[in-house]
Amino acid sequence: MRVILSVLGCVAVAGCAAPMPPGAELYDALCAGCHGQNGDGDGAVAAELPVAPADLTRLAARNDGVFPKDHAMAWIHGYPDRYNIRVMPEFGPLLDGPMVRVQAEDGTEVLTSKALVQIVAYLEAIQQTE
Ligand code: HEC
Repeated sequence: MRVILSVLGCVAVAGCAAPMPPGAELYDALCAGCHGQNGDGDGAVAAELPVAPADLTRLAARNDGVFPKDHAMAWIHGYPDRYNIRVMPEFGPLLDGPMVRVQAEDGTEVLTSKALVQIVAYLEAIQQTE
């Protein structure tokens, strides 16, 4: 009974929905079409692409259990492939806007776009370990 009451209370008070974090909104708008709503690579246009979009829920699993933060940031920004052709677009220009300081994996501080940091934090949050 207590469980039922608390569920009803939750619906009545807040709809149970936590506010969507900004990284998730950006992800939905910019990335989900290819990488899928859940990040597993199953987006609406995935089948039409010459290269399958990566499963973004397994970035850590594919990197010995460590989320590859710097790699993800650089990849999304477009930096590693500036002189190459790739299927995924560069998002560096789109993500320009307010800048924040972040610590890279080697400990150095870098200035980068707040939106990029938010998207990468979202990706880190959706990692699957199993
Ligand atoms: C047009 C489709 C498309 C869109 C839009 C897209 N991606 Fe991708 N993404 C890909 C494809 C395809 C790959 C696989 C590598 C390649 O591009 O050849 C990839 C690879 C990646 C990788 C590298 C994965 C790895 O294993 O190293 C990351 C990280 C990533 N995408 C994140 C994002 C994020 C975050 C967004 C939104 C800001 C996004 N992608 C938008 C198609 C897309």
